[in-house]
Amino acid sequence: MEATDSRLDVAAVGDLVLLDPLTEESLLQTLQERFRRGDIYTYIGNVVISVNPYRSLPIYGPEAVQEYHNCNFFAVKPHIYAIADDAYRSLRDRDRDQCILITGESGAGKTEASKLVMSYVAAVCSKGEEVDKVKEQLLQSNPVLEAFGNAKTVRNDNSSRFGKYMDVEFDFKGEPLGGVINNYLLEKSRIVQHVRGERNFHIFYQLLAGGSAQLLQQLKLRQDCRHYAYLNQEASDVPGMDDAANFHAMQDAMRVIGFSPDEVTALLEVAAVVLKLGNVQLSSSYQANGMEACSIAEPQELQEICSLIGLDPSVLEQALCSRTVRARNETVLTTLSVPQGYYGRDALAKNIYSRLFDWLVNRINASIQVKPGKQRKVMGVLDIYGFEIFQDNGFEQFIINYCNEKLQQIFILMTLKEEQEEYVREGIPWTPVEFFDNSIICDLIENSKGGILAMLDEECLRPGVVNEDTFLSKLNQLFASHKHYESRETQNARRVMDASLLPHCFRIHHYAGKVTYNVRGFIEKNNDLLFRDLSQAMWAAQHTLLRSLFPEGDPRKVSLKLPPTAGFQFKASVAMLMKNLYSKNPNYIRCIKPNESKAPMLFTPELVLAQVRYLGLMENVRVRRAGYAFRQLYSSFLDRYKMLSPRTWPRWTGSDREGTEVLLAELGYAPEELAFGHTKIFIRSPRTLFDLEKQRQDRVVQLATLIQKMFRGWRCRTQYQLMRKSQILISAWFRGHRQKNKYQQTKRSALILQAYVRGWKTRRQYRRFFRSGASACLANFIYQRLVQKFLVELQKNLPPLSVLDQTWPPAPYKFLAEANQELRNIFYRWKCKQYREQLSPERRALLQAKLCASELFKDKKSLYTKSLQQPFQGEYLGLTQNPKYQKLHAVAKDKLVMADTVRKVNRASGKTVPRLLLLTTEHLVLADPKAAQPKTVLSLSDIRSVSVTRFSDGFLVLHLKETSTGGGKGDFLLVSDHLIELITRLHQTLLDATSQGLSLHITDQFSTRFQKGDMAVTVVESAKAGTDAPVCKKRGSHKMEILVH
Ligand SMILES: Nc1ncnc2c1ncn2[C@@H]1O[C@H](COP(=O)(O)OP(=O)(O)OP(=O)(O)O)[C@@H](O)[C@H]1O
Ligand SMILES: [Mg+2]
Repeated sequence: MEATDSRLDVAAVGDLVLLDPLTEESLLQTLQERFRRGDIYTYIGNVVISVNPYRSLPIYGPEAVQEYHNCNFFAVKPHIYAIADDAYRSLRDRDRDQCILITGESGAGKTEASKLVMSYVAAVCSKGEEVDKVKEQLLQSNPVLEAFGNAKTVRNDNSSRFGKYMDVEFDFKGEPLGGVINNYLLEKSRIVQHVRGERNFHIFYQLLAGGSAQLLQQLKLRQDCRHYAYLNQEASDVPGMDDAANFHAMQDAMRVIGFSPDEVTALLEVAAVVLKLGNVQLSSSYQANGMEACSIAEPQELQEICSLIGLDPSVLEQALCSRTVRARNETVLTTLSVPQGYYGRDALAKNIYSRLFDWLVNRINASIQVKPGKQRKVMGVLDIYGFEIFQDNGFEQFIINYCNEKLQQIFILMTLKEEQEEYVREGIPWTPVEFFDNSIICDLIENSKGGILAMLDEECLRPGVVNEDTFLSKLNQLFASHKHYESRETQNARRVMDASLLPHCFRIHHYAGKVTYNVRGFIEKNNDLLFRDLSQAMWAAQHTLLRSLFPEGDPRKVSLKLPPTAGFQFKASVAMLMKNLYSKNPNYIRCIKPNESKAPMLFTPELVLAQVRYLGLMENVRVRRAGYAFRQLYSSFLDRYKMLSPRTWPRWTGSDREGTEVLLAELGYAPEELAFGHTKIFIRSPRTLFDLEKQRQDRVVQLATLIQKMFRGWRCRTQYQLMRKSQILISAWFRGHRQKNKYQQTKRSALILQAYVRGWKTRRQYRRFFRSGASACLANFIYQRLVQKFLVELQKNLPPLSVLDQTWPPAPYKFLAEANQELRNIFYRWKCKQYREQLSPERRALLQAKLCASELFKDKKSLYTKSLQQPFQGEYLGLTQNPKYQKLHAVAKDKLVMADTVRKVNRASGKTVPRLLLLTTEHLVLADPKAAQPKTVLSLSDIRSVSVTRFSDGFLVLHLKETSTGGGKGDFLLVSDHLIELITRLHQTLLDATSQGLSLHITDQFSTRFQKGDMAVTVVESAKAGTDAPVCKKRGSHKMEILVH
């Protein structure tokens, strides 16, 4: 739809037939606007106009091929692929041979267009190994022909210097089978001279730039272009063109086509010979008879040429410098002047090259030709040089323009014919259109009796003095009153003064403009003669390829008959071409060059206008619109516009034609605006079509809204229905679940009720069968059995006898739980008793001491938990073993309870000193460890109380009674490693002795009494203290801090 919109876009219509108003300005503006948008293709009906973009556009990729493959020509954006697709489908499906005629001036993009068409067809036709090979060969013919037939000109860096018509042949399925290439008139004069800024044919530069050192040596060539007289002496490079890469591409292409390595070498050798011929210098010398003659100035180049082609240098030298003249069975050898010698040399070079080019085309044809006998369909692609108007136009321009004139003729005739045929086919009355028929110009040139070409041939063949002046005067005579012919003489006769028309020129009013031709060189170029000596010399060479190019050089085939002239040959080949084209369905691509400077995005209106005029585009549009500007098949038309009437929308059940009639009747267009053909509807003015399109666009918006509305409604409705369905499903499941639960509950209750009632009924029923008290008796019996069983089980499973093991089997019945617990306690107590009874007296005393310690300290002093692991040894000093402690031993005698080392805190400084401590049943002795002499002996009754801290230190204070005798200096501050044991033993000893225990204070603050007065002792928890031993710090004379950990 978008594409069709673009065709109908009023600012830049895609089809110029729809231009309204139709003027040169509007046509030009449309092309310019489209070019600005990057739309380089525009239609006139089914003719494609292509404006050269001079930049690569992203419109030729595989996606584009896909888009245009099997497309509807008018339903997609204008594109060269659309015409290629249309032609290919028409060929494949309707069995109509096609030709694609690409015209336009030099640099307008003809060759590029032909390549695009070929590549499109190759891309869309079917694939397969054999088919791909054929396709590749056809496509690869381009680089080879371009290398030998294209050159840089001032107008185009890659200008085709020959005309090309290629027939691609397909089988009934549309698969390519092969092809035939026809070439027309190579511009061979380029070999020997070209305008400044141009180049010779690409192949020479490619060979020198891309040929390997070995190849160049083999061909006896030097890499430097400037060495060769035929190549331009200025810069030989073309910007953006890589000659070396192109050379390799060309070699690859030759390989693909099927050239053997020997053939390639032979071809390049002949090209090298052409190049080297230009360097053969002639000089003048005087013969014995005093006549001036030419001779070879520098024999080396000649010798190299001869060694390349296998020829005796003297043969070539003679052929270049002299000429054999035959007259009445006599042959006379005449020497040539230097200009004649150069003329002969250049003619030879031109002839070798043009014949080589013909050979090349034939060789390619031999590879791509289809085996005879196969039925085939043909698509011809014509890429021929465009109309040329130069400052100085010669024989070549005359021939080229003649060819274009013929193509224009065929274009006009076929377009009209087609149009006319369509109206007849559709049964619509046809109104003839005024258009310029150029057959009068064609006749002026080609008329076999009195045409310009015929006159030229006549002059060439006429004996006697022949030159261009006689030819011109003959023309002046013949065409004195011809509307399309002018010369100085005819102007004079008409009394017209035109300084631009020089005496040796004539002017033809071509369909595309007036062209003034200079007659100089017409005769020579038309004759295209090559001295027989030269062709014989070439035939004499051993080089097979070169030799085959000059069959007339064979002395056995000598004929005095002159070969046909160039003009004659060309006319014949053009006639053949025309015949060929007439037999096919034509498709036109008309190329336009937007500017002279090869610049992208630049559109020069004057230049384009000139081309629009001579391509006859206005006429083309007029012819196309002569009857009706727009036509379309009923089915497509109805499809597109049926929404404009409620009778045809949304569906029309009758025939397409009736539908279209009903639709248009409803819309109320004037009857003369419309015509109904057999298969198509014709609309006279573009305005009606635009109006239709506008109405359609408005209606499409309405319809889109309607569709959206319906869709939204449908979506909401279905969603609502879905939700409703889900809701019903969920509630059904929920209700079901609730009822099921309720039912289960009712059922359970009913069963319980039933059970009770049944039980009650049964009990009532059976009561009379039981004795009173029988149930109690039974119950008692059962009870006793259960108890018995329990006890027996218990007996078998009694837990281990370890006192620490508290395990006990659980009660099997609830009513036995209490008894089971009681049994467990009894068993435990019994286990403990057993344990106690097997203890020794020492062990018992030790455990008692531990028990006592627990009573004194458990949960009161944190040192207690550490002491649990340590057994109470009592004797830590080894009094009996160590003789040093004999005295002390004597003091303790048999009453010793505990002997240990303690540290005594100095009351004045807080520092500690070691002391030995002995606890006997009566005394507590502190002794000096070195002397082992008792220093202080305290009677136990002197101890008033003992204070210790809450922490895990071994600090203790022995508070003495005021009446004590041993503690003259006051209370003792001691630190013991076995504090818990010491105090426990002290407590026990006191208890034994006085039946009154020790008064123990576990506190953080207490006061001590010293000789010098009381002191307040504070216990401080600090990290500075050692892990075991506390640190005593005096704070003034009455304060002391015990740092514990
Ligand atoms: N469709 C295109 N896209 C991009 N560049 C293009 C296109 N067509 C042509 N050109 C450019 O324009 C140059 C000239 O085009 P081309 O050689 O096809 O002209 P021509 O009409 O064959 O000229 P001649 O008559 O001299 O052979 C190309 O080399 C290319 O750079
Ligand atoms: Mg070209």
